[in-house]
Amino acid sequence: MWKKILMPYEQAVEELTGKFRQMVNQYERLGLYSPIERVEGRVKTLSSILEKCQKKGIEAEDAPEHIEDIAGIRLIVQFVEDIPRVVEIIRGRTDMEVLSEDDYVLGMKESGYRSYHIVVSYAVETILGPQRVQAEIQIRTMAMNFWATLEHSLQYKYEGNVPENIRLRLRGAADALLAMDSEMSSIRDEVMDAQRFFSEKANVVYDILNNIQSLYETENKEAMANIQNEFYELYKTADLPRLHEFNTKLDAIAARKKRQDLS
Ligand code: GTP
Ligand code: MG
Repeated sequence: MWKKILMPYEQAVEELTGKFRQMVNQYERLGLYSPIERVEGRVKTLSSILEKCQKKGIEAEDAPEHIEDIAGIRLIVQFVEDIPRVVEIIRGRTDMEVLSEDDYVLGMKESGYRSYHIVVSYAVETILGPQRVQAEIQIRTMAMNFWATLEHSLQYKYEGNVPENIRLRLRGAADALLAMDSEMSSIRDEVMDAQRFFSEKANVVYDILNNIQSLYETENKEAMANIQNEFYELYKTADLPRLHEFNTKLDAIAARKKRQDLS
């Protein structure tokens, strides 16, 4: 009986992990930043399904209805900022219907657990016909995943009764990882700013060099030497607004020359 019940869940995990991995591939192929770093999936084992039924006081046959994470998908991201992006992607999909969301990123759990959970309803076509199953998608950073994995094995070791001193230390570790995530976020902004700066500088320098080259045809040697010197000085300062200003000035000189030539 269980084999037949779990079949559509196995298919859902297989399909969903495949779809999310395909997304990562497509971002990479197009040279775009992928908000998802890694995709994991698993079907809950029968023994932990039964264990959860017992804990929640529900009959085993009601498990598919009441246990949301028989099919579990985990999306690991690099930065906290990637989480809302992934959430939006899931909300926008036509092949999965969002049933509920839990934001333990904004509101860390008492234990120190952080993650964003989305329960979706997902349709699979099996040999026995179409069927809808629930799947729980957990979205978390690498730091959040690291914490949850360690804490989970401790819960397992102590059978859910983790000693107070260890719980306190886990809470402390969660705070440290929270700080690490926000530190990484500020570095992310730095990196992006730096990338923007370098590409903008490369663009304006390219324009300036083109302008200088065309001015060689019309300006005298002395004027060109002055322009070149001014450019070298500016280039060393790496002052973007002044580089733009300089380029505008060169544009103006070129335009004036053109008007003179025409008249
Ligand atoms: P469950 O009966 O566990 O589903 O509780 P719930 O329905 O209140 O859902 P909740 O959002 O609290 O947890 C869903 C899943 O998130 C769990 O099955 C775990 O995988 C994970 N989770 C929640 N809290 C913790 C935690 O403190 N530590 C770890 N390691 N995982 C957690
Ligand atoms: Mg749950």
